[in-house]
Amino acid sequence: MGQNNANRGKTQMIIGVPKEIMHDEDRVSATPDVCARYISLGHSVLVEKNAGEGSYFHDEQYAAAGAEIVDTAREVYERAELILKVKEPQFNRLMDMHEVDMMRPGQVLITFIHPAAPSNHQMVQNLAARGVTALTLDGVPRISRAQSMDALTSMSTCAGYKGIIMGSNLLPRFVPQIFSAVGQIRPINALIVGAGVGGLQALATAKRLGARVHAADIRPAAREQAQSLGAQIIELNIPEEAAVGTGGYAKSLSRELLAQERAALAARLPEMDLVFLSALVPGKLAPILITEEMVQAMKPGAVIVDISIDQGGNCALTPPGEIQTRHKVHLVGIKNIPGLLPESATSMFALNMFNLVNYLIKDGQLVLDRGDEIVQGILTTLDGQVVHAGAREAMGL
Ligand code: NAI
Repeated sequence: MGQNNANRGKTQMIIGVPKEIMHDEDRVSATPDVCARYISLGHSVLVEKNAGEGSYFHDEQYAAAGAEIVDTAREVYERAELILKVKEPQFNRLMDMHEVDMMRPGQVLITFIHPAAPSNHQMVQNLAARGVTALTLDGVPRISRAQSMDALTSMSTCAGYKGIIMGSNLLPRFVPQIFSAVGQIRPINALIVGAGVGGLQALATAKRLGARVHAADIRPAAREQAQSLGAQIIELNIPEEAAVGTGGYAKSLSRELLAQERAALAARLPEMDLVFLSALVPGKLAPILITEEMVQAMKPGAVIVDISIDQGGNCALTPPGEIQTRHKVHLVGIKNIPGLLPESATSMFALNMFNLVNYLIKDGQLVLDRGDEIVQGILTTLDGQVVHAGAREAMGL
């Protein structure tokens, strides 16, 4: 008998799926189909009432899949051993309580925590102080065996697509070339900085909308991919050995090289209409690549979509979680862009989460092998301590 069948009938873990509470967040951490998969492995699943409504998954569908619908977030947190969420814990107005305060020692939380971002430091320290074992999805390494668990890749794909759509919507002008009876209107210039997963999706989307696309990245492989999607490359002249580290990931640049990069971007920014920022070194704070002075020099009505905001942002003026206009430039700092594409985002996210949970739980127990690259990347708080390397560095621990 296979392991799955052997587990049937015996409860492995009680999994809790609370409703997301971030403003405009319509995603949910499990779909009814995925709940059925957890249940077939012997887990039981508690879903907060209406948790899936925003993604068009209804309570009846969860119940039909075998999940138990519970009335309040409080009850989910009280009864579950493993909490699956999409966004980091925050204050729950309905319960008049922070989500961290609903958790208990030894309880496990898996979600996007972005523990290096300064705005999350206190919350991460509170998770540690409460004795919660917290695992962050943004730490899943980009290695082949972790691909199916990599929710960040899925969400970056959503953010690249939807971010360009949102940015285009704020623009006071057409994106593509338009021929009209009063003459020809030129297409906009879009610039993608950081041509990783999100950046390349943004680039492809901007190109499909008809923009002239430009891209900048410090990794030669990313520049090649951007070029093959039709982008004109803005040369930053960063030596490869300073830009690429182990595993092919980008490295943090020295202060001098960052200044050089800003100068190269500053020379081209005044031509750009739509700027998409997604430059990041995994687990670190995002580098500031656009200063206030550079924003001041941009075209009035231009738009900056800064999806690195969870790590502090690539533009010094990006408002966390908001859209604001500064120096006549629209700045988008929305933190949950995939939440604005809830059905696609939830379907991808829920499967990535399922694959990760399945990888970590053996015989009804969470097994954290600290020598495993995947566990090393995601483990954030354990036994009362903040253990995530990037967070510790950013907190000065
Ligand atoms: P990625 O690792 O695939 O791409 C990052 C790219 O930035 C890499 O190609 C890297 O070479 C490049 N880079 C690093 N330092 C650079 C520098 N100084 N200048 C230029 N390029 C540089 O990351 P991915 O998955 O595309 O995610 C990007 C960001 O988007 C992350 O901060 C992630 O948290 C965020 N994100 C935000 C969402 C939102 O709703 N706001 C949703 C999903 C992701």
